[in-house]
Parts: sequence; structure tokens; C-alpha cells
Amino acid sequence: MSLHTDPVFDSRDIATTADHLGGLDDWRDMEPLQQPTYLDPEALEDAVGRLRSSPPLIFAGEADVLKQRIAAASRGEAFVLAGGDCAESFAGAQADRIRARIQTVLQMAAVLTYGGSMPVVKIGRMAGQFAKPRSADTETRDGVTLPAFRGDIVNGFEFTEDSRRHDPARLVQAYQVSASTLNLIRAFTQGGFADLRLVHEWNRGFLTSNPGYQRYEQMAREIDRAIRFMDACGADFDALKTTEFYAAHEALLLEYERALTRIDSRTGQAYDVSGHFLWIGERTRQIDGAHVDFLSKVRNPIGVKLGPTATAEEALALAEKLDPEGEPGRLTFVTRMGASMIAEALPKLLKGIGDRLPQVTWVCDPMHGNTITSNTGYKTRRFEDVMAEVERFFTAHQEAGTVPGGLHVELTGDDVTEIMGGATEIDDEGLRRRYETLVDPRLNHDQSLEMAFQVAEYLTRRS
Ligand code: PEP
Ligand code: CO
Repeated sequence: MSLHTDPVFDSRDIATTADHLGGLDDWRDMEPLQQPTYLDPEALEDAVGRLRSSPPLIFAGEADVLKQRIAAASRGEAFVLAGGDCAESFAGAQADRIRARIQTVLQMAAVLTYGGSMPVVKIGRMAGQFAKPRSADTETRDGVTLPAFRGDIVNGFEFTEDSRRHDPARLVQAYQVSASTLNLIRAFTQGGFADLRLVHEWNRGFLTSNPGYQRYEQMAREIDRAIRFMDACGADFDALKTTEFYAAHEALLLEYERALTRIDSRTGQAYDVSGHFLWIGERTRQIDGAHVDFLSKVRNPIGVKLGPTATAEEALALAEKLDPEGEPGRLTFVTRMGASMIAEALPKLLKGIGDRLPQVTWVCDPMHGNTITSNTGYKTRRFEDVMAEVERFFTAHQEAGTVPGGLHVELTGDDVTEIMGGATEIDDEGLRRRYETLVDPRLNHDQSLEMAFQVAEYLTRRS
């Protein structure tokens, strides 16, 4: 019973508790896909128990504010920017690397806000993005077969039997690394670093020779002048000192998400307090599946990835289950169709839905439908494909009369070479120079800025 009881409630009153919990454990009967296989039930129970008694990482009220912000994006009054690693790693949770990622997102947001004249809802794929769905359960190298790497929250990347074992203690470690990452995010974004008057500072530490750096500097000078002008006019800049920055991850490991679900004392409703925004991946979005069921029971703003084969009927059924009341900001559809598919698939999807989901926010993930293998054997993406998908996303929504509400990308603040193309022209051979990702290839700092400048143009085109 211990796994099923929530310490928030009095354990003597299980019947009331179960009632109150509103089916938070129903997913257990639904054979959730993509879960680890733990061989030691006691170690799992111990880890889950520790998570259940740990403080929340976010507060329900913050998730509610984010919901309002996302609702504004659904109406075209704001633009969502979600970015970060495909898979965070425990080892990568170092101050300078976290800062570089935050800086990159802040810079992209500045470009979009200034260039696109649009408030930007900033979300990091950070502080919890540790679990990865995999298409194969195992990996074979030189005749040796071991369990596939499923993210640091499940097992280690190193190709040894010991490291690839699914270890429940990693659930607790993921919580701890998330807590320290989120602490740093909060410090940077509330403690003065995100002050718009430091718009030049955010460019510091990056490669001055990169085209994106130069172009950003120029824009930062313009923002500076505008701020000085407004300052001279007597404007009050207190509001610029801090910025909202939210944490998001794929809610894949249901044991982890359930253990970090709490009843909000203000409303009596359940919130998953492992992150502000949680999404369901393309591989686990079955309408009768465990993931959809679990997220239907918590009140956070949530997302669902939709690949090129998603039908209007599926989208409508997902909305009916996840957002039966049509609450603005509650449900985001993140389309990830691929540059070659989107021009056909997205208009068809939007036409099939018609005007039945006015509350949904549409976000473009131009990464996951554009993964290829380079001639040199790297899992990569072409920058031009990524940008083509974004452009077609805007066009499809503009033609359908719906709102292109945001962007969801895999990026890093580091100068990696994982995606081909962009202004610095990384080619097949260039990928070798600094290919570091644990799972999917990410935009580097320069490519991220290049994307932001381009998207700012699409944003102005729409108005
Ligand atoms: C991801 O966002 O890293 C991911 C696995 O995406 P998808 O579920 O869309 O394939
Ligand atoms: Co990915």
C-alpha cells in the first residue's frame, strides 16, 4: 500500500484519500509504455518514499500563472519559447553550463521580443528533462547487447552492464539535480542577471567571431538606446529587473511524476510539482494510455507532441480527455512533423479540427521530425530543414486562421557542432569537432540566435 498512499493525507482515512486523489493512480492499471524495469522493489519503494516526503520543486500558483501566459500565446498576444537539452545529464548540471543555456534562451527571447514586438513566455527544457523514450530496449556494440540508455534518471550513458542497469536511486538524484538547477535558474532570473538593461552581458562568454554574436550586439545597442531614451523620459524600469522563467520536461517516468504530485492547499486540486509545464511525448500519447490518463488528473499546463501521422480525431479526443472544459492555457499541441511532411500534414490536421479547439496553443518543435544520419555517421539535423519546418508552421497557421503560438527547440549555450548548416556552415566533417549530446543533436549558441532573428521576422509578418 505504501506506494499508493499520499503522505499529504491522513493514512487512517484511505477511502476519503482515494476519493480526493481523483484517480491519480489509475495509470498503474494501464501498462505504461517506456518505463524502466526495476529489479529491486524495495529500492524503488525507498526512492519513491523519499520523493514523496520531499519539498515541491514548483508551486501550484506558479503553474497557474504560466497557464495564463500560455493562454495569451494561444490568442497571439505572446509567444512561447521553450528550449534546452534533449536530455539533461547529472554531470552537465554545472553553473557555467546552466548559465549559458539560460543566457541563450534570454537572448533568443530578447530578439523575439524586440524584433517581433511580442512578449515571450520563457520556458527551459531544464531542471527535470532526464528521462528519454527509446525506440529499442537494447543497444548492441561489437556483439555486446545491453539495455538502451534511457536518460540519467534511469541508467548511465556509459556502455557497461553496471551503468546500464535501471537504478531507482537515480530518481532521487534526478530530483536533487533538478532542485539545484532550478535554484540557479531562480537566482539568475530573479536576482538581477535577467535585467533587460544587461542585454549586452548575456552575449558575454560566447564566440565573438560568430555572425550571431555580431548581429545580437547590434540589436542590443538598439535596445540600450531605447532604454536610455525611455529612462530620460522618466519611465520606471523596476519591472525589467526580473523575468519569469519556467521549467518543463517530458512527464515520462510516471513513478517519479506521481511521487512529486501534491494537493494544492489553496484549491484542493492535484499538481505535479516536478516542473511547471509537462508534456507527453509522441510515443506515449495513446488516448487510452497511462501517460494521458495521469496528466489528465493534474492541473498544470501540459503539452502533447503531435507527429505527422496524428489525425484530427486523435487531437480532438486528446483535448476532450486532457482539457474537457476548454480551459485557456491548459493544453498545448507541440507539432513535430518534419520539414517534408508539415506542409501537407499540418494544414490537414488544422482543417480537420476546424474551430473546435479555440483554446489550444499551437507550438512548433522543428527538431524531432528532422533527424538524419550524416555521411560521417552522426545523428544530426540540417539547420535548413529545421528552419523550413518553422516557416511552414507559420504559413499553415496563417492560412488556417489559427495562431502560431510558439517554438520548442533543443539547444545548448555551448559551441557544439551537432546540427549541420547555419551561418557558420557546419558540414559532415565539422560534426566531429564538438559532438557532445547524449541523445539528440542540439542547436548551438550561434544557430539558436540565427533562428531567433529569423522567427522574429515571421512574427512581424503575421501581424
Ligand atoms: C523530445 O522532445 O526529446 C522527444 C523525444 O520528442 P518526441 O516525443 O516528439 O519524439
Ligand atoms: Co530530443
